[in-house]
Amino acid sequence: MKPIIAPSLLSADFGNLEKDIQMLNRSEADWIHLDVMDGVFVPNISFGIPVIKAVRRLSEKPLDTHLMIVQPERYIHTFKEAGCDLLTVHWEACTHLHRTITQIKEEDMLAGVALNPHTPIEGLEDIINDLNLVLVMSVNPGFGGQKFIERSLNRISRLRDMIKRNHSEALIEVDGGVGLDNIAAIIKAGADAVVAGNAVFKSSDPEQTIHNLKSA
Ligand code: DX5
Ligand code: ZN
Repeated sequence: MKPIIAPSLLSADFGNLEKDIQMLNRSEADWIHLDVMDGVFVPNISFGIPVIKAVRRLSEKPLDTHLMIVQPERYIHTFKEAGCDLLTVHWEACTHLHRTITQIKEEDMLAGVALNPHTPIEGLEDIINDLNLVLVMSVNPGFGGQKFIERSLNRISRLRDMIKRNHSEALIEVDGGVGLDNIAAIIKAGADAVVAGNAVFKSSDPEQTIHNLKSA
């Protein structure tokens, strides 16, 4: 089984998003990963609804949206209207995580939960059967181009065990510092999908790099 590849638009050319999205449409990318940052949950601010609507018009691929914002439950319907297919909220940002997941699914989107590197994987066990996806952060969220935290491999394996044990259908996606040098180890540890920002967009031939990631 080939991994799901989700290039992150955070590392694309914001002065010419159309060109980069057309490249992604031609490529073997499965999803487009959208990093929404509010400057509160994470120290950085990225982009929001108007940009996502524009991406939706241009993209032929599903939009995998990663909300790095506080109180994400306030915006679930708004992100659905903007055209998101998969909505991932942070464990650390949700007081009523189960309710939020239910609301995402009621809007006919797939529901994901992201875990910061310090958040125990085990905290998900009681809702793992309600999730479509778990996003394992392999860097501290906020910026592209950071170094992969090696301990994430152990976290992916433990999550894979938990998913099996509970007969859950949740996919494991890994985000941060993923590239051609470590994708094989990440998949071997149990990941189904990877996000790649810098590895794709800072390479000399992004379309070829997506192909290489897909066949790694
Ligand atoms: C980080 C974001 C990532 C980021 C990944 O907070 O969630 O999706 O774009 O970028 P790379 O692949 O460059 O580490
Ligand atoms: Zn992300």
